[in-house]
Amino acid sequence: ARKIIIDTDPGQDDAVAILLALASPEEVELLGITCVAGNVPLSLTSKNARIVCEAAGRTDVPVYAGSKAPLARPLITAEHVHGQTGLDGPQLWEPEMPLAEGCGVDFIIETLLSHEPGTVTLCTLGPLTNVAAAFGRAPAVIERVQEIVMMGGAYFEVGNITPAAEFNIYVDPEAAETVFRSGVPVTVMPLDVTHKVLATKPRVEAIRALGTRVGHFTAEMLDFFERFDVEKYGSDGGPLHDPCVIAWLLRPELFSGRHVNVEIETKSDLTLGMTVADWWGVTDRKPNALFIGDADADSFFKLLTERLARL
Ligand code: BDR
Ligand code: CA
Repeated sequence: ARKIIIDTDPGQDDAVAILLALASPEEVELLGITCVAGNVPLSLTSKNARIVCEAAGRTDVPVYAGSKAPLARPLITAEHVHGQTGLDGPQLWEPEMPLAEGCGVDFIIETLLSHEPGTVTLCTLGPLTNVAAAFGRAPAVIERVQEIVMMGGAYFEVGNITPAAEFNIYVDPEAAETVFRSGVPVTVMPLDVTHKVLATKPRVEAIRALGTRVGHFTAEMLDFFERFDVEKYGSDGGPLHDPCVIAWLLRPELFSGRHVNVEIETKSDLTLGMTVADWWGVTDRKPNALFIGDADADSFFKLLTERLARL
């Protein structure tokens, strides 16, 4: 199994991604979860990650709190999408599981240093603050990363937090720039693909029909999560952004994309956080990312539902 760290800001879609990873030990070994401020402040994301582990009965996975704020900017949150708790939908509880001791950024550094180079993959589901902080604090870890698989950015789908930017990149554009310029192989799940993976009513009902605790918990999260996109945009369901990252590790053949050069806008007020992806190869800048553009959504939901049934 591929060793992974999930860096996350749960978030209903983050939670589903964590559950999918926990349900897939043959393909991925989850070494730990590092939380970051994003959808909601760090105190809530680091609580929500533990609630998700408890829901899956996996209190053995260490959950760390990482960065409280972006590298160089005040935090912007997304309660308008995820609710006040970040995980609105199911009845939440106070987790019994404690946070792991120490900072998530140090956990990332120590894990990369203590494993063979090229054997740990970072799955990033939120702003890239923790990863960029680790790269800044201990540059020696950069070349030890196997791959970064990220939810972030957009090309044709442009922006969801501003007309030009996707939320995860917008919240910490300096961190994103560090990551894209690091030389680490990056696979990106932008809005272009995640907007094709919609939690429609029948798909959510299939998950509820599992009849398990995790099935109900997930369906209740998705009931809430779909509201925003369905009510605001008339879409068929909430986009399951972050689970695409894990699904890619399980079944890459469900996705297709292109190697492109991606640069991050960090200066302009108008287009701050934009992922400027050279889709048509109009510059001579070297590709630094595999940008995914399409997915087989039916197979994705079949996989997700089968895996959740195991928990
Ligand atoms: C991303 O932003 C968050 O709201 C979601 O969890 C996802 O990671 C989508 O833009
Ligand atoms: Ca997220």
